[in-house]
Amino acid sequence: MTMRILHIDASPRASRSRSRVVAEAFLAGLPDDVQVTLWDVWQMDLPSLGGDMIEGRYELLFGRPVDDAVADEWQAVAKIAADFLAHDAFVISTPMWNFGVPYRLKHFVDVVTQPGMTFRNDAVGNVEGLAAGKRALVIGASAMPIGHDPSLDALDHQYAYLAAWLGFIGVDEIERIQVAPTFGPEDAVAETMAQSCEGAAALARRWALD
Ligand SMILES: Cc1cc2nc3c(=O)[nH]c(=O)nc-3n(C[C@H](O)[C@H](O)[C@H](O)COP(=O)(O)O)c2cc1C
Repeated sequence: MTMRILHIDASPRASRSRSRVVAEAFLAGLPDDVQVTLWDVWQMDLPSLGGDMIEGRYELLFGRPVDDAVADEWQAVAKIAADFLAHDAFVISTPMWNFGVPYRLKHFVDVVTQPGMTFRNDAVGNVEGLAAGKRALVIGASAMPIGHDPSLDALDHQYAYLAAWLGFIGVDEIERIQVAPTFGPEDAVAETMAQSCEGAAALARRWALD
């Protein structure tokens, strides 16, 4: 069956993005029949999760009526979550921003991570992720050599956060390419990009065989 991959891109730098270049090297190495959909979180219409929406969610969960506008927004959330789960694998390319991910990617995660949509829990608190059986690749870019220097691991809230989130929604196979460092002498950055793109192409060959 054709593999459907969702590429979630979180860099606002479009074609100059380091993380996106490496994601494209990965996607280019996949067989032609793989279907790739790009979601650029900076272009997506993501419902705002303000007070009315959060209160409305609890009302809806308890089967109580809510304003039409709130009901419509929750329909939009449910559609994004369902479209997200309609893929077999996720490729997330993201810069590191202040040790974590850009706020638009956090917004996306907050939108799709809803009980009954991407996970469910029972009365005693057991959680079942609804993305079980899917795989993910996280391509994170950072100016600092995060992921390549253990003394910096404590600063990494980028991969650590995304791996925790993906695990929570049930993704059981998570792989990582850390594009780092992307700041410094020109030849060092060129080396980062060459190694990352090479790693991405090798990983694509592995995914093609699985
Ligand atoms: C707002 C902002 C915050 C950043 N914070 C960090 C950081 O905490 N650690 C780091 O190593 N790099 C940081 N960077 C640098 C980027 O992660 C780095 O330039 C990366 O290569 C950008 O990826 P991109 O080209 O895919 O957007 C920051 C950049 C910006 C614009």
